[in-house]
Amino acid sequence: MPSKKVVTLHVNGEAREITVPAHRTLLEVLRELGHVEVKCGCEKGDCGACAVLLDGEAVDSCLTLAWRADGRAVTTVTGLGGPDDVHPLQAAFIEHGGAQCGYCTPGMIMAAKALLDEDPSPTTEDIKRGLSGNLCRCTGYTRIFSAIHSAARTLREQRDVV
Ligand code: FES
Ligand code: FES
Repeated sequence: MPSKKVVTLHVNGEAREITVPAHRTLLEVLRELGHVEVKCGCEKGDCGACAVLLDGEAVDSCLTLAWRADGRAVTTVTGLGGPDDVHPLQAAFIEHGGAQCGYCTPGMIMAAKALLDEDPSPTTEDIKRGLSGNLCRCTGYTRIFSAIHSAARTLREQRDVV
């Protein structure tokens, strides 16, 4: 097996080619490519700060080898929206005070996105389960759960209008 290979990651819709050693994680490579919105907390799958979507599924990028993402779609929190096109989840986190230091927020939002894609009307228990791999050390979870309920409502309304 070669120790390095060229991989193409489709990050937020943009193809990025990079030569990667076999042991390098998706988290390391994304940050190397400038995607510092993907946070590094524990690097062992405990905190969820590094969560991104890989072909629409939430993964801890610190536990995912970059080679595994070759040719696949990677979505980070900035791929959901930004100041000019805020995603309902991002807006709800702001509105409900779902972030204090904000370090966990990109991972929380990506885990919530995966959850709402699968279940547009989750109960609080469903949200707890969906976010069980994401830790927040400062906001407390009540506001985060309120933000996700609120975003779910907005997304349902948007779907009904279309
Ligand atoms: S940095 Fe990946 S789970 Fe903590
Ligand atoms: S807002 Fe600080 S860790 Fe969650």
